[in-house]
Amino acid sequence: MSIVVFGSINMDLVARTPRLPAPGETLIGHAFQTFPGGKGANQAVACARLSSLTWMVGRVGGDVFGDILIEELAAAGVNHTFVEVDPAVSSGVAIIAVDDQAENNIIVIPGANGNVGRDDLPRLEKAMEGAKILLLQLEIPMDVVVAAAKLAKEKAVTVILDPAPAQELPDELYSYVDIITPNETEAAALVGLSIKSVEDAEGVGQDLLIRGVNQVIVKMGGLGAHSVNSDGGKFYPAIPVDAVDTVAAGDAFNGALAVALSDGEPIEKAIRWGIAGGALAVTKEGAQPAMPERKELLALLKTQQ
Ligand code: RIB
Repeated sequence: MSIVVFGSINMDLVARTPRLPAPGETLIGHAFQTFPGGKGANQAVACARLSSLTWMVGRVGGDVFGDILIEELAAAGVNHTFVEVDPAVSSGVAIIAVDDQAENNIIVIPGANGNVGRDDLPRLEKAMEGAKILLLQLEIPMDVVVAAAKLAKEKAVTVILDPAPAQELPDELYSYVDIITPNETEAAALVGLSIKSVEDAEGVGQDLLIRGVNQVIVKMGGLGAHSVNSDGGKFYPAIPVDAVDTVAAGDAFNGALAVALSDGEPIEKAIRWGIAGGALAVTKEGAQPAMPERKELLALLKTQQ
């Protein structure tokens, strides 16, 4: 069964710097790099590299970045028939700084992603024929995220929402979402609580269950992930690796989680896949180039048995 990703497609313009700049500061960096990215496209590439039949639905601009971004999706094995070229705007772009500690900050200029709207829903509906899972994020307009999740719910397609970038959600959206995967910052924006411990993550998870989702997975970066569902809470430790770039680690997590679930694996195993996907992603530079292959992920999981 297939996985559909409805979301953003960006070109990432990356400055490698010794540390992240302070407000008003000019810093000399080490290097400039460009990588295909966008939370939606990264998750689609992760799914395809992990051997899932994957459809991307979204928009690129009528510029040179748009052509490259579509070529990159194709090269990764993502079906891009439902990616529209929007000649009126530029492609989405992310300006990213990555420091020597592998930390990052990101500014996203939505471009064509900001034009994703209800006109795109018929293509999404087609892509969802025979699909098991719909992956959503928040780099396209919120009203269309809500409409897409509603459509998926009506078709009994499992909705996994990555609530990134951090923001509050309309109440209605929670009732259409099966699995929500905030990191600590996003969880704080959703429920207004900061997360400093696994106990905090458990509290946030319980709050989100009450709002209507079935499964919460709080991604806690280098610590691991905390799962909360009606059976209770469970913490999953991270797999230690040498991190060079944490950009898109969360996207690798969601892609791997979705592929394991679409293969029919239970949620416990799918979370371990997510953790392994995120761990592998931080060992490589860039967003889409860092999404792991299935054999790498299986090899890493084997070392954890
Ligand atoms: O999650 C990482 C992604 O966030 C980057 O690829 C960038 O494009 C932004 O969307």
